[in-house]
Amino acid sequence: MKAIILIGGFGTRLRPLTCTRPKALFPIVNKPLLQWTLEKLAQGGVTEVILAVNKLTKFHIKQQRLSKCGLKIKFSLDPPKTPLGTAGPIKKAEKIIGHDEPFLVLNGDLITEISYSEILQSHAEGKAVATIALHEVEDPSRYGVAELADGNRIKRFIEKPPKGTEPSKLINAGVYVLSPKIFEYIPTDKAVSMEREVFPRLAEEKKLYGHQVCGLWIDIGKPEDYLQTNKMLLESCADKNPKSSKFECKEPVALGKGVSIGEKSVIGPCTVLGKNVTVGRNVQIRDSVVFEDAKIGDDTVVVGALIGEAAYVGKKARISEGCIVADHAKVKDGAKLHEKVSVCPAKEI
Ligand code: GDD
Ligand code: MG
Repeated sequence: MKAIILIGGFGTRLRPLTCTRPKALFPIVNKPLLQWTLEKLAQGGVTEVILAVNKLTKFHIKQQRLSKCGLKIKFSLDPPKTPLGTAGPIKKAEKIIGHDEPFLVLNGDLITEISYSEILQSHAEGKAVATIALHEVEDPSRYGVAELADGNRIKRFIEKPPKGTEPSKLINAGVYVLSPKIFEYIPTDKAVSMEREVFPRLAEEKKLYGHQVCGLWIDIGKPEDYLQTNKMLLESCADKNPKSSKFECKEPVALGKGVSIGEKSVIGPCTVLGKNVTVGRNVQIRDSVVFEDAKIGDDTVVVGALIGEAAYVGKKARISEGCIVADHAKVKDGAKLHEKVSVCPAKEI
């Protein structure tokens, strides 16, 4: 079975952290999101994965040396001047995917418990050209929304409907199965949106079906979602940390290899410190993710924030909720960042 993962977007809602890494490589409890996805695909019986990327994403993925989990992995590159959207990359990969059997498509910015075999099964039973995993959410306006006819057929698909106009709470979970017939619906070499162009047309032609799923599902697309994703996985998978007489860990907390924490510091709850992070004395960090090699100075407080790779936060600083300090940025001693302040990569403030 083949799967294509769409990971060539620009991750604009997670800037400035996405200025220096693609969304798919953001660490979730200290493991890159794409690694989580590859592991789940391998467990789900997929044998070949196509990564639909842009040039920069491909570069970053190659640098990471992810474990392939026994999968055959190929890259399919968007042209440098034309990002192909969410359907264009599928057409571009037509030759690699082939016409033999239905295949799986995943948005690359998700953590889910969706069973791939169940949705494939559901697709095989019907007359669908596309079968979308549908997940129920409180606010569907941020997503693609499906209106069901009798049974599992989708009669209308609307991408990001204005709030209050959503026809249901069932959203495109960013996991779908397509039959090779789909290639007839996507023009070659141009940007095409699966959600705004292809799905609505399939719905009109009565060839679009849904398969309702439940369980853990989250798109890391915005900073608060990314923090929430780490929190959810920390709660379900983090090991308890050994007690230290020097500092305190309020679980759940995940500490990467080589982390050092000074006396009287309190880490957690809901906090991830990446590999080789150095935390000074009397520091408080909670509800936050600190990427590898970052340094946090003595007497500093970090609450609900994202601290990028090799960033430096000085002594007696305060980083408030929703702040993002990007890779290699430097926040000097005593600086106080109010809520939702972002510091660009390598910037000193
Ligand atoms: N190769 C390539 N080229 N990939 C792309 C491009 C592109 O031009 N544009 C976006 N992608 C990838 C992104 O990297 C991401 O993994 C995926 O396609 C979806 O794009 P997002 O930008 O994250 O879309 P969204 O979150 O606003 O909405 C999508 O996901 C929702 C579920 O999270 C839609 O599919 C919605 O219908 C859906 O509900
Ligand atoms: Mg998304």
